[in-house]
Amino acid sequence: MRARHLSTFFIFFFGALGGLLFGFDTGIISGASPLIESNFSLGTEQTGFIVSSVLIGSSVGALSIGSLSDKFGRKRLLVLASILFLIGSGLSMFAMGFVSMIIARIILGFAVGSASALTPAYLAELADAPHRGSLGTMFQLMITLGILLAYVSNLGFLHHNLLGLRDWRWMLGSALIPALLLFIGSIILPESPRYLVEKGNIDEARDVLHELRKNNPKEDPDKELADIQMVANQPKGGLKELFTFARPAVIVAILLMLLQQLVGINSVIYFLPQVFIKGFGFPESNAIWISVGIGVVNFVCTILAYNIMDKFNRKTILLFGSIVMALSIGILSILNFTLQVQDAAVPTMILIGIYIFGFAVSWGPICWLMIGEIFPLNVRGVGTSIGSAANWIGNFIVSQFFLELLHVFNNNVGGPFAVFTFFAVVSIFFVIFMVPETRGKSLEEIEMEMRHKAAEKSAEKAAKEAR
Ligand code: BGC
Repeated sequence: MRARHLSTFFIFFFGALGGLLFGFDTGIISGASPLIESNFSLGTEQTGFIVSSVLIGSSVGALSIGSLSDKFGRKRLLVLASILFLIGSGLSMFAMGFVSMIIARIILGFAVGSASALTPAYLAELADAPHRGSLGTMFQLMITLGILLAYVSNLGFLHHNLLGLRDWRWMLGSALIPALLLFIGSIILPESPRYLVEKGNIDEARDVLHELRKNNPKEDPDKELADIQMVANQPKGGLKELFTFARPAVIVAILLMLLQQLVGINSVIYFLPQVFIKGFGFPESNAIWISVGIGVVNFVCTILAYNIMDKFNRKTILLFGSIVMALSIGILSILNFTLQVQDAAVPTMILIGIYIFGFAVSWGPICWLMIGEIFPLNVRGVGTSIGSAANWIGNFIVSQFFLELLHVFNNNVGGPFAVFTFFAVVSIFFVIFMVPETRGKSLEEIEMEMRHKAAEKSAEKAAKEAR
């Protein structure tokens, strides 16, 4: 399918739509799980498994999709992911009990994981260098919109058993709408021009590039095509590249993604209402409003990120985010160990707002953006898969241990947040010493820089050995 007659907005909107389902399917369960628990008379452990089964599916989905996308293309696999989204959403809406719900959630997880590995590479490969920051941030913008919509859907359907179907079935089933949009969108979307060059379909790649850059007279699609061809003609090491010149990219991707989770964002996204109910004695009925508040702050701050992403270096923004997060949750932790519970509630809320701001403008979007940027063309699919899987594994660890950690500290949030502060401080040093700068460079420039660096290093090593 050619890119003809599609507006750039359409392409990036639908290209990033997998993010909306990612956000929706991970966000919806906080409101739906207590309802499913009582409807199916489940134990807390079973409910916990319904929540975490998506994360297990995502880790597996993310890891398995990458090499397929290097083989069959980004677009075809997006179509496949959208079909899985449709099946998973339908099955979870009509699940008859614990087992069928788990199967549905694992399928959904598979789809979420696939979309999270495919989309960053796809968006990065379609975008031009000067706008790649904001266009790549579309993915995170969609994630945060999906989370917000999930909270709103929880709020809207709660206690409304329409057409004889329980409220939670509608909550889960509403994911069918974006899944259908993604399905239609992914059929119409163009294939990534870089993937096309890699497979030798030069004419189609030229068409797509001309169409994508048609509103931007400053861009020269033919020069871009020549650059992509030059990189595609480099000697190919296959998967071995991940252990040779692309090894620094693998290490950075894994650490970026693990740290993104270990700073604890999902303790807020998934569990904050419970923290306020358990820790500060808030009434249960306030829980959903706390969620909606978080969702709004998260989404609005990501719009800000979209606007600044190509104006400042990625490293500067990451560093800013790390410092804001370390300070806000560090102070939060100290206050919760020193103040009386009732005095700590309001400052905790404000500090959590600042912490979400710090995350949403920086680590939220940039980690997904960068895993699409730092891998060489030949192994970009597998590379983003590895990064994405690291993210889901980190997410699983935090989600499994957060409530237990809270319990160990007698429901004092200061405890888990002290642990998250430690990782936020680690992230400062990681950014300073290990993260490369990618803003303003084409994907081809980033790859050639990495190849040169590796060649220099091995020449140095050889010279040392010869001495
Ligand atoms: C993270 C998710 C998180 C979301 C919050 C994403 O970048 O990967 O785990 O729930 O941001 O906005």
